[in-house]
Amino acid sequence: MKIIRAKDYNDMSRKAANIISAQVILKPDSVLGLATGSSPIGIYEQLIKWYNKGDVDFGACTTFNLDEYRGLTADHDQSYHYFMHKNFFGRVNVPKERINLPDGAQMDAEKECQRYDTAIRAAGGIDLQLLGMGLNGHIGFNEPAEYFSKGTHCVDLTESTIEANKRFFASADDVPRQAYTMGVQTIMLARRIVIVVSGENKAEVVREAFFGPVTPRVPASILQLHTDVSVVADEAALSLCGDLVP
Ligand code: F6R
Repeated sequence: MKIIRAKDYNDMSRKAANIISAQVILKPDSVLGLATGSSPIGIYEQLIKWYNKGDVDFGACTTFNLDEYRGLTADHDQSYHYFMHKNFFGRVNVPKERINLPDGAQMDAEKECQRYDTAIRAAGGIDLQLLGMGLNGHIGFNEPAEYFSKGTHCVDLTESTIEANKRFFASADDVPRQAYTMGVQTIMLARRIVIVVSGENKAEVVREAFFGPVTPRVPASILQLHTDVSVVADEAALSLCGDLVP
């Protein structure tokens, strides 16, 4: 596990974007695993800038996003489809037919999860998976649990997630109760993983996940067992790691 220290959010975004653009330049037909949330927005901004300058070209890439709310259509402004279109896909040249996210409008969970895993396999697996991490160590929608999850599956959102998300919806009743997410095994099968973490509120979980025991109680801790992981974290996120990080 390589820990890359960044000064702040912008520096973290630039360093992670560097790794992703190098991946795409060296292997133009890369299969990229992508994330939503606030952590990767700066990375997408940076990649868009380099794309506009002609320094990186996504025309041969295939992408698979980590997750999507079950029950939201792609055009819903809180769907991850919508987020990705607004923050990345609508501004670079990944071919539409090679953009993949779980289909939130497909209510047959088993069918949708199988379809997604089959599509990832058919694409040859993920070359580089980008991740953020939740305050409790979750990756994708894989929350702390007794066991590590395997393939893509449907999860019930916790009350705290529903509570936190309700401000984005007309009422609490409109907040999706479930989501489709890649499993921990799906993530671990990626050949390379880049996880970005920023901010003091993540400092405690950074220490637990990357320097504590490997446990499904802190899902991101399993990344310690992957052979090619880069943790790109800013000073604030590393502030409780002391001498553990050079
Ligand atoms: C996003 C995802 C989540 C986020 C995590 C951190 O697709 O799967 O696991 O990466 O919740 O979110 P932010 O970056 O908003 O702190």
